Amino acid sequence: MKSSYNADVLVIGAGLAGLSLSLRLAQAGHQVTILAKEKLTEGSSLYAQGGIAAVLGEHDSFDAHIRDTLDAGAGLCHTDAVDFIVRRGPDNVHWLIDQGVEFSRENDARGQRNFHLTREGGHSHRRVIHAQDATGRAVENTLESQVRDHAKIQVLEGHIAVDLINAGKLRCEPPERCLGAYVLDTRENHVFPIASRMTVLATGGASKSYLYTSNPDTSTGDGIAMAWRAGCRVSNLEFVQFHPTCLYHPHAKSFLISEAVRGEGARLVLPDGSSFMSQHDPRGELAPRDIVARAIDYEMKRHGYDCVYLDITHKSPEFVKEHFPTIHKRCLSFGIDMTKQPIPVVPAAHYTCGGVMTDLCGRTDLQGLYTIGESGFTGLHGANRLASNSLLECLVLAESASRDINDRISAPVFELTELPAWDESQVTDPDEQVVVSHNWEELRRFMWDYVGIVRTTKRLRRAQRRIGLLQDEIREYYVNFKINDDLIELRNLVMVSELIVQSALNRKESRGLHFTLDFPALDESSHPQDTVLVPGNFVGSHLAPVWQ
Ligand code: FAD
Ligand code: SIN
Repeated sequence: MKSSYNADVLVIGAGLAGLSLSLRLAQAGHQVTILAKEKLTEGSSLYAQGGIAAVLGEHDSFDAHIRDTLDAGAGLCHTDAVDFIVRRGPDNVHWLIDQGVEFSRENDARGQRNFHLTREGGHSHRRVIHAQDATGRAVENTLESQVRDHAKIQVLEGHIAVDLINAGKLRCEPPERCLGAYVLDTRENHVFPIASRMTVLATGGASKSYLYTSNPDTSTGDGIAMAWRAGCRVSNLEFVQFHPTCLYHPHAKSFLISEAVRGEGARLVLPDGSSFMSQHDPRGELAPRDIVARAIDYEMKRHGYDCVYLDITHKSPEFVKEHFPTIHKRCLSFGIDMTKQPIPVVPAAHYTCGGVMTDLCGRTDLQGLYTIGESGFTGLHGANRLASNSLLECLVLAESASRDINDRISAPVFELTELPAWDESQVTDPDEQVVVSHNWEELRRFMWDYVGIVRTTKRLRRAQRRIGLLQDEIREYYVNFKINDDLIELRNLVMVSELIVQSALNRKESRGLHFTLDFPALDESSHPQDTVLVPGNFVGSHLAPVWQ
């Protein structure tokens, strides 16, 4: 059994953000330890379909990509972040190509093989580079093989970070510095500390707090909850993005029907075949996601339908199979032939626009702690993320964080401390695992019912009360019993759900992804503000961070 570990850089998470950062750091000569809760590549990045937005087309421009991002973000994007990330897009995509990622190509008029760029909602140009409809798999598989082969990278799969270690809490010098993390080896059921000079959270989003989601099981907001407990501010967590089109089928768990299907001409229709998007927005099916998801929700509720349909049958079967082989095959496995019949779809929680507040190098409020990818908040997405800007942000922040770490790590700011072992002297084996699974289900259901696409203050308060009860039970369970992965994730999900609800209550307007019937209009009386939550600032609330 491991008692402790030392690492130059501890990277928690192995999606596109964590893998590309680890590789860049190792290529610069640093020793990296990378953790993944499950298999190395399991996470949202693996399932990304549409692709990566970057200015690569002849007629496209940085200005146009910036404008589209700002439009989708409904007045809340940080213009410096948008400018920084958009302009670094093409170089970062080329870095991926240099690592060996094979993106889809097509013949141009002169018979040359160029990258095929697809289109998605809110984009004024074709600018989404992709590997058919399985971009994430192509990217993750390529980076995985390099990471596994690199002598400077130590891979720890099946290891889940429990909490960050803040020097201040250990009364060490320098205070308010991250010294690493406590980590549970899920195979040996044993917690041990990893001491690191720099620690990076690349743990993805928190969409598993909702009953219906496009995300894999890893998206439990661990990084956001850990950073909050360690004293970092979080921002804009009310902006949960619901993807308009997830497959609606009793046996299809979390399967997305890419926005690129609409980008290539698919129409949204009601069961009688009539289309409805043009009644909601002049951009129709290619309006930004918040608008399309809300329109579907409205039509479903108005008519009492369980789903709507996505119809691409007007395209030839060859076109559909060539562009969307994964989606075509998966739908067929459920008896749906998308070349001949419309696909039943519903919206589902997809992306966490808010997160741990960082600068444009991923630096957080805690020295030595970075956050990149979906768990971070740079201000790029504002009140609604533009499609395919997420993988772009993962790549660009991995690059800028690697540079920053490279510049700072050599400074001998402190000696790695001997960290105290995890104390299990007061706990016993859990007696009733059913409490944890029951609470998981309860949380995800009421988050869906009360904190979903359309909100009200009354529903949010109802959710808040239930979260309070869950917090009490989890706290008691956490203090008395040995921890396991389910309990760690539930504790984090409940924490992040509380932050989502508090953020939603704080916003007294409807903007982007946050729509409330109590304040249905945009507040145009003042300059749009981010919803920033500061640890410890909540009187009598469960939001005060508890550090174990
Ligand atoms: P993830 O890829 O989610 O990786 C998180 C990693 O953190 C995992 O390795 C996980 O094991 C690890 N982890 C989490 N908690 C812990 C812990 N406590 N301890 C140890 N490890 C931990 N975006 C686009 O831009 N384009 C697209 O086409 C696109 N398609 C999508 C399709 C689907 C189905 C989904 C779900 C999302 C899609 N997105 C897309 C969004 C995008 O994929 C994600 O935002 C992005 O991949 C997040 O990357 P990440 O590296 O931040 O996190
Ligand atoms: C999709 O392919 O529709 C997902 C794109 C994204 O989430 O950016």
